Formats: sequence, structure tokens, C-alpha cells
Amino acid sequence: MCRLIWDYSTSPIGCGPSLVAAVKKDWTTQNAIALSWQEAEQPHAAIRDYEIKYYEKEQEQLSYSSTRTKVPSTIVTGLKPSTAYVFHIRARTATGYSSYSSKFEFITGDDDSEEASDQGQVLVIVTAAVGGFSLLVILTLFLLITGRCQWYIKSKMKPQDKRRTQYQNGHVAFPGIKTYVDPDTYEDPTQAVHDFAKEIDPSRIRIERVIGAGEFGEVCSGRLRTPGKKEIPVAIKTLKGGYTERQRRDFLREASIMGQFDNPNIIRLEGVVTKSRPVMIVVEYMENGSLDSFLRKHDGHFTVIQLVGMLRGIASGMMYLSDIGYVHRDLAARNILVDDNLVCKVSDFGLSRVLEDDPEASYTTTGGKIPIRWTAPEAIQYRKFSSASDVWSYGIVMWEVMSYGERPYWEMSNQDVILSIEEGYRLPAPMGCPVALHQLMVHCWQKERSRRPRFHDILGFLDKLIRNPSSLLTLVEDVHSLPESPEELPDYPLFISISDWLDSIKMSQYKSNFIAAGYTTLDSISGMSIDDVRRIGVSLIGHQRRIVSSIQTLRLQILHIQQSGFHQYVRSFRDKKEKTQERENRVGEQNCV
Ligand code: ADE
Repeated sequence: MCRLIWDYSTSPIGCGPSLVAAVKKDWTTQNAIALSWQEAEQPHAAIRDYEIKYYEKEQEQLSYSSTRTKVPSTIVTGLKPSTAYVFHIRARTATGYSSYSSKFEFITGDDDSEEASDQGQVLVIVTAAVGGFSLLVILTLFLLITGRCQWYIKSKMKPQDKRRTQYQNGHVAFPGIKTYVDPDTYEDPTQAVHDFAKEIDPSRIRIERVIGAGEFGEVCSGRLRTPGKKEIPVAIKTLKGGYTERQRRDFLREASIMGQFDNPNIIRLEGVVTKSRPVMIVVEYMENGSLDSFLRKHDGHFTVIQLVGMLRGIASGMMYLSDIGYVHRDLAARNILVDDNLVCKVSDFGLSRVLEDDPEASYTTTGGKIPIRWTAPEAIQYRKFSSASDVWSYGIVMWEVMSYGERPYWEMSNQDVILSIEEGYRLPAPMGCPVALHQLMVHCWQKERSRRPRFHDILGFLDKLIRNPSSLLTLVEDVHSLPESPEELPDYPLFISISDWLDSIKMSQYKSNFIAAGYTTLDSISGMSIDDVRRIGVSLIGHQRRIVSSIQTLRLQILHIQQSGFHQYVRSFRDKKEKTQERENRVGEQNCV
């Protein structure tokens, strides 16, 4: 309910017109109110953010609170049940604040409904239990009499008969082997939600605070009560008011997918709210948030074994998904969540929708939206997404983890990334990365997808490393000899000058540092340690890391050059440069990605 109050003391006088009109309540719960509003059609200056000022109506003179948002909607949390609150909002532009909007009054949801609904629930459970039991007895008698007891017949079947396929929703399913069902194959997508997700009574949910923003609305943290069980922390994805039927379906698709999974390394769906507003998806709460920002925040804090433990968890979740036939398509550290025990879980499901939501995804010439840096070449070129393309992305996640959240290929443009990959360039080992792990990454990045390891192989490999930690002691920077066979050497790009090299890793700003310190040839930098890099004035840890990683790769190349002869090196370098130039000219004309 909304009541508009005109208050002349804060009406638009003095600081320009209010840029906020028609504040609307999207939904309420006992302790939260979701608001959205329209901004002025043509504000004189771009709106930077909004300030929402609010207070309990009865306490007007005592105190008020405020919150900010960059978008014209917000969820105000931490409110009292059945209480009237007054809100007014102002916009901030480069020239300062606009006047406040008019005041709007909204009331939070009713606390009593919780108990009433609990009692109601108990009654429903008892009635359902009695009814259900009677129905079960009647059904069993019917099945026994008509001889249609499938489970009994199946238990008497020979194993080869049991393996015969069944068809559900157009999908082939083997008895006993779980298969993923694409919710888009349902004629009625709402049915898919009901089949795979539990409906939750909203009175069991307590929203506590907003922790992020998704494509469809805010993501909040809160608590979920289940009768007879301990309250659990949850994350709640909400669907913003004013949605279309298509947006509702796209929003709930993620729940229909997640509800089919049951694995300790996949984010668990608790249930959905679809029968009342707001529509919500409730999932387990992961205390440490997304893996990329978690690692950036704790740069250098973990042992290699801890990092490998995280990678093992992700590989295990991905093996489960590939076993049941689900292809993720957007596997990246930003889509992995971390709990307070450092357990990593795969999240963000929803097929094409996820890519719309992902800020890293950009349009390709074929019109698809793809997170280029994480995606296998065949998926970029002709949309061949498969578990093998997920393995490529997993290799990139390994690199993100071992570099504590560094951006893959740094500031290279998407176009340069595609060309470099085609040229055979692969990311060098991050600083402090065991050789065995970088070898596994390079294995995941094989151009030929059938040559990449499967998740099962990756898990087996990581388990072996964990059981035998001494295998992780050899770091890439310690390798001073080349592999036995030259084919084993990754095809890294070759550089002819320090300037070329620094440009390629987007560290051009340090050219003068290298020159001033007397490093003028590639040979001279190949012996540099992290301390040397620090000493010449590279103070940012991320930059030190990037430079040292690349030096390790250069060291291998230089060894290779020394063995195979300088002339051959220069020839192959020239060939490569010419080829790249040719391709760049061609791509420039096509105006590709
Ligand atoms: N952000 C998005 N989903 C989350 C979750 N399940 N737990 C914590 N933060 C999240």
C-alpha cells in the first residue's frame, strides 16, 4: 500500500527539480521493501547514483537511514514487520544533488502471517500425510492387482534389459543414470520449475541485506526457516517488479536447471517463490562470495595445496555436470562461489541467459554473446559448445586461481586474444605455479578438442598431485632445461626486443625502468628474479607477477633458441609476425569481434 504525502519543507526548491518521479513499491516482505522509480526523461546531466532516505513513520523526528544505488531500484532491508516507513529519493549528478522526490509511504509485511502460516502448514502436513498414506495403500493394491508394479518387474529384469533406454521429455535416459533435462524442451516452462524446484512459503524467508545485483533484480542474503530444522543462511535472487512473462521464464530457468543437480560442488537450490510476489530463487549461502574477487582480496595467502584443493572441487563439480550431460558454457572464476571452508561450488546456470548477464560476454560476428577469454576456439568460431569446451574454460579457471584472480590475457583486446590463440600462443605459468599444473592447463588448451583431457582425467590427475605433494614442488621458474622432445614445448610467441615483449604483456610503462637498470637484451632479463623486478621499480604485486611469469616463459624460449639456432628462431619469428600482420589486415576489413 502506498500513500503520497506532500511535504513542502523538502519539496523541489533550491537545488533544481527532483529527477525522481513516481516511486513504486515492487514488493514487500516482513523486513524488506523493494522500490523502483522513474528518472526524469531528459536530465540535464547524467545521473551518477540515487540516495534513498527513509525512516519509520512514527519515529520521524528521531532518526532516519539512507542507502544508495546506481540504478532506479533498490531493496531496503532490515525493516520492522507491519511498520509504516516513509521514503524520499534524490539523484546525484556531476553538478550535485537534485531536490528530493515527494515522500512515499509503504508498510512492511505482517509478522503474524509467519505463525499463522506455520500453523497452517502443520495442518496441511497432517492432512496431506493422512490423505497420502490412504492413497498409497489404495494405489499399491491397484498396482498389485493389475500387475503393473514396474519396480517389481524391473527388480526381476536382467542387467542388459535394465540398460535399455527410456525417453523423458525427448531426452534419452538410462535407468539408474541421471540425465539432465533441458527445461526449454518443456511445452510449459512453469511445469519444469514445479518438477525440479520446491515452492517455498515466503514467510519462511527473512531477507537481511542486498549483496549484489543480477540481470533480473537484486541478490540478497538472508535466512530460511524450515519447520523442525535449524534456520540456514541463504542467498536470495529476486525478480524485479514490472517483469514480462519472458523475463519471469528466463529468471526461473536457472532454478529448473539447478534443481536437477545434487553434488557438493554445485550450488544447492533450496527452492523458489513463484506463487506470490516477489518471485525469488533461494540457494545456499556461500560466505566468501565469488572466487575471482575472493582470490584478489587474499593475494598470496594460500598454500599451493589449498589452491589445488579449490581446483579439485571445481573439477569434481564439472565432472558431475558433464556426466549428466550438462554443458555450462560460462565456466569462469567469477561464476564459482566459495564457502567458509574454502569449498568451491559451480554456479550461474541458465544457458544463453547467463551469457546475457555476464559482463565479460561480448558479441561475435555470428551474433552470439561469448566470454571470449574463457571460451574454446571452436565455440567462438562455430558455437561448438561441449564438455570439451568446458574443459578449455576450466584450464583458464586454473590459471585464474594460480594467479590469484589475474585477468586472463591481461588488457589484450578480445580480437588479439583470438588471433594469439590461433597463432598457438597460450597463457604463461603464473608466478609460483608448479610445472605440473601449468602442463595440465596447456593440455586443456589443445586446439583439437578430442585431445583435451576429460574432467574425469583432470580429477584423477589433481588427486594424484594432492596425494603426492612433492610433485608440486617444482615450480615453472625452477625449470632450466628443455623437455626431451621439442614438441612438448608450448608454442609461445617469440619476441625480438624488450620493448616488443613489454608491449605484448601490456607493461609498456616499465620500458624506461628496464633500460635505466641496464636491461637491454632479452637474454639479460631472462635471468631476473622477482627481487630484481622489484628493485627496478615495479612496485605493484600484480605487475611483478605478470612480468615474472612472462620471464619464465622467455627463459624456456631462449633455451630453445640456443638449442635450435638463432637463424631458425629469427626466421620463425618473422614468419609469425608476417602471418599475424596479414591476418590483422584481413580482420580489420571484416571488423570482427
Ligand atoms: N552471490 C550470488 N550468489 C551467492 C550465494 N549463493 N552466496 C553468497 N553470495 C552470492
